[in-house]
Amino acid sequence: MARQEAGVTEAQIAVHWKEEECLTPSVKFIGQAHASDPSILQRFTEDKFPECFREYADLLTWDQYWHTTLDTSNPPFWKWFVGGKLNASYNCVDRHLEQNRNKAALICVPEPEDEEDRVITYQELYVQVNEFAALLRDCCGLKAGDRVTFHLPMLPELPVSMLACARLGVIHSQVFGGFSGQACGDRIVDSGSHVLITMDAYYRNGDLIDHKVKADQAAEHAERNGMKVDKVLVWQRYPGKYSSSVPMKDGRDYFVNDLLTEYRGARVAPVSMPAEAPLFLMYTSGTTAKPKGCQHSTGGYLAYVAGTSKFYQDIHPEDTYWCMADIGWITGHSYIVYGPLALCATSVMYEGVPVYPDAGRAWRIAERLNVNIFHTAPTTIRMLRKAGPDEPRKYQYHFKHMTTVGEPIEPEVWRWYYEAVGKGEAVIVDTWWQTETGGFIGTTLPALHPMKPGSCGPGALGIFPAIYDEEGKEVEAGSGKAGNICIRNPWPGIFQTIWGDPDRFVRTYFAKYCKNKDSKDWRDWPYLAGDGATQAADGYFRILGRVDDVINVAGHRLGTKELESASLTVEEITEAAAVPVLDEMRGRAVEMYVALRPGLSPSEEIATKVSKAIEDIIGKIARPKHVWIVPDMPKTRSGKIMRRVLAGISNFADPGDIMTLANPEIVEEVRHKVQAEKVAIGEVPRELSPEELEEIKRFGNVD
Ligand code: PRX
Repeated sequence: MARQEAGVTEAQIAVHWKEEECLTPSVKFIGQAHASDPSILQRFTEDKFPECFREYADLLTWDQYWHTTLDTSNPPFWKWFVGGKLNASYNCVDRHLEQNRNKAALICVPEPEDEEDRVITYQELYVQVNEFAALLRDCCGLKAGDRVTFHLPMLPELPVSMLACARLGVIHSQVFGGFSGQACGDRIVDSGSHVLITMDAYYRNGDLIDHKVKADQAAEHAERNGMKVDKVLVWQRYPGKYSSSVPMKDGRDYFVNDLLTEYRGARVAPVSMPAEAPLFLMYTSGTTAKPKGCQHSTGGYLAYVAGTSKFYQDIHPEDTYWCMADIGWITGHSYIVYGPLALCATSVMYEGVPVYPDAGRAWRIAERLNVNIFHTAPTTIRMLRKAGPDEPRKYQYHFKHMTTVGEPIEPEVWRWYYEAVGKGEAVIVDTWWQTETGGFIGTTLPALHPMKPGSCGPGALGIFPAIYDEEGKEVEAGSGKAGNICIRNPWPGIFQTIWGDPDRFVRTYFAKYCKNKDSKDWRDWPYLAGDGATQAADGYFRILGRVDDVINVAGHRLGTKELESASLTVEEITEAAAVPVLDEMRGRAVEMYVALRPGLSPSEEIATKVSKAIEDIIGKIARPKHVWIVPDMPKTRSGKIMRRVLAGISNFADPGDIMTLANPEIVEEVRHKVQAEKVAIGEVPRELSPEELEEIKRFGNVD
């Protein structure tokens, strides 16, 4: 704690802000890369915008070619490839049959190591997608524009369900399998889904998890909130066997495998959809308690993920590509399913935990399947490193290309990824993007740009980022100053709106830096990403993290308001504040501060209730690292809780100016209690970098 009083020295700042050295990809990689000729950069310069994206759209098969590349008549509701018609399922499946019918589309690796992989060829995928589409249409009455919620684990039934919906023009909304039944229910209500598609069980860490139980909770929660789920379709982890403890509800719940017997051999013509028809919703956290349903388009989105999969993932027909993300997040939608399958790739998916049953599991899979493109997040890289820093070299796999995504990566972790996992042979792309952006927006082109640990690189092709200060003045590259990173232009993968809340869409992402609300010129509508960033003199961006009240836990976004509302459902609690705390494995973890109703005394039991409420309402990933019961919250004179003060305490950092608080004396009391307990359990964080200190200072700042 002496460190805290001493503050961070200039010398330490100089070390932390040191620019990392660049590395260049191997000649072997460059020789085979899709984008190895620098002329590609010329094709995507700003003067070629928006027509440059024709190159991405031309990777797809259109039923009808478009007449307008970008329609800006109703800003910021951009429309891409207007007049064009296509079907996403056709593009990811049917069109590959003629030449690649027997190629593996998906190789699905179950968690139990003694279970066989499920290898699904494009022909098999075609059959399964068609049969399930017929079932959705004829048995559930679903048609283009309807919404369906999925709560599916990482098994092939998930991409099959997505593609079956896409075939019909039905909008899918997959809720991450680890989210609670209630979180799923909220998303059912918001999207207006009458059908829920789930699975009875799946493996995680060696346990067969009962998942159907969450479907019951979701349907009941939705019904209580005004949305009746007519049908729950249940896939079985072991077809023909029911692996859940809860009964099937008569007239509502159906086993997909039973229903499918009636659709054997069924074929459904892909519905030709307008380019701007919504393809799916993906919910993500924001600054309010209500998650935002990001609505993605069919033509623009698919073109963007196909183009970026080609040039940034460098997927070739002979590659075996493994993205370890969960399809419940945008990464899986874009870079396990839609992007790779649009390119006719072989995409590997894995059901379970990368270090189960031991630290070598991921590398055994890579070796056995001859994976040569690998894609994961810093949180997983840290986990793999901790579990077995020397494991990778015991296995005979060779990656040509690796991706990191989802949160800032520490240069030290980056180097382990490069040297140990990539064996010094693989090029790395650090891809910065968001649920909202559909695909990568900041990254190096692997054969053309040097890699710099900890920096994502320049804007992606056709993406023109800029950093603005609070007044909207551009922060100069190389100035060492941080600001709000924005994208100055629209791009095909950007989400179209927030489902059911277009005002929030405009307010959250465009209002801050809009130069003229009446303008129909895209130049007046920069997109605010919600991240802090710096730009080095060479143009590379370094993403510092969220500037809003969102905590990035293991690469997953959690809204402080969601966490706080969940805590307030515990009757003993009157006030709650969620703050981020540095975590060695997860990047950030959540700590809750709660105050009790008058007359109640703190107890372990109440703290446990808060954790349990968060787990039930949001999901296990949101479980706080600690719940601190405090006598009062530090507040401004207007009564707002100062989260940055609490974040400072949790991270052993300077809580900042507290003199303007209504109750400054409480800070010392809370600090003493919390930090003493942390010290007692050996939980003092490492030295914080200036970027991290800055993040804490900014956090939830209501001044
Ligand atoms: O803060 C940024 C961080 O993750 C946020 C987006 O989270 P989500 O919508 O869940 O999408 C994650 C997968 C695309 C961003 O606002 N983030 C994402 N990628 C990076 C990153 N931070 C630093 N470096 C990255 N490569």
